Amino acid sequence: MTTAPSHDSIRAVQWHGDRLRLLDQRRLPAEEHWFDCVNSDDVTRAIRDLAVRGAPAIGIAAAWGVVLAAKTGEDLATSLATLRAARPTAVNLMWALDRMKARIGAGADAEALEREAQAIQDEDLAANRHMGELGAALIEAGSDVITHCNTGSLATAGYGTALGVIRAGVEAGRIEHVYAGETRPWQQGARLTMWELVRDGIPARLIADSAASHLMTHGRVKWVIVGADRIAANGDTANKIGTYQLAIAARHHGVKFMVVAPSTTVDMATATGSDIEIELRDATELLSVGGMRTVIDGADAWNPVFDVTPAELIDAIVTERGVILKPDEEQMRIMFP
Ligand code: MRU
Repeated sequence: MTTAPSHDSIRAVQWHGDRLRLLDQRRLPAEEHWFDCVNSDDVTRAIRDLAVRGAPAIGIAAAWGVVLAAKTGEDLATSLATLRAARPTAVNLMWALDRMKARIGAGADAEALEREAQAIQDEDLAANRHMGELGAALIEAGSDVITHCNTGSLATAGYGTALGVIRAGVEAGRIEHVYAGETRPWQQGARLTMWELVRDGIPARLIADSAASHLMTHGRVKWVIVGADRIAANGDTANKIGTYQLAIAARHHGVKFMVVAPSTTVDMATATGSDIEIELRDATELLSVGGMRTVIDGADAWNPVFDVTPAELIDAIVTERGVILKPDEEQMRIMFP
């Protein structure tokens, strides 16, 4: 599972010919537990229950789910529909299923679908490496950066989106320190991003989400770098809950704000951020920490797990096709015709 470049040793979605092997992200960092999906329902469950998460990774896993459906003789229309309904916000899921569906429509057999899913996975890794170079080039040497949620190898085919830029930026000496927001309620930052950064030897510190504005007053943080779950035609960007308030704080403090996502996260059919469905998850995710209830019995909670950052708060959108500075609909339509 190790690859050549340094600061990049994790591959969490692995195809083994007749099964999809996933690193169970729910058990990290306590335990590196792998499990196998042998049919499309296993994959749907893994996506829905966050065993595999992160926009590109769930698209890739879903593509392999279609391969499993074909190999095990499932009704493909039903499998496609069930996988599609697993989560609503990350458009990579729908994109990958549409691509697989088109191949099915063109008469592809299970072997051809297997090649297609492998291509989706390989293209994502290549996109991440390219975005890493493009994004890192925007950062001046010696900068500190803040990131949010997990956008790394765990959330993608490997290397990562925002974390790919961070890996490349550290490698190039442009980034000195990384601050990872905890990312309540599920704590992707604490549980996953810190796990990746520590494993790959990247200098990083965890912060409470609520410490970000205070950190920005110190003047060393030059960029907030985040991923995306869906980018609308005008550049509005849905990402993990808490991203929007980071963008507001960044603008207030003169810190730049970068969104890093492959073109598979761009949804030109969605006009603006207000048209993006925001996933609401179970209140219990907020009512406990590490499985221990922290709130009085009988309390309720509201748990939207994504928010939308308006394009005017974004300084750069980095995709493998190139960089859009100060994104707006006109520039988006030029890059994504
Ligand atoms: O709910 P999750 O953990 O699937 O949310 C993931 C995120 O919001 C990531 O920041 C986003 O998918 C970009 S991942 C490369």
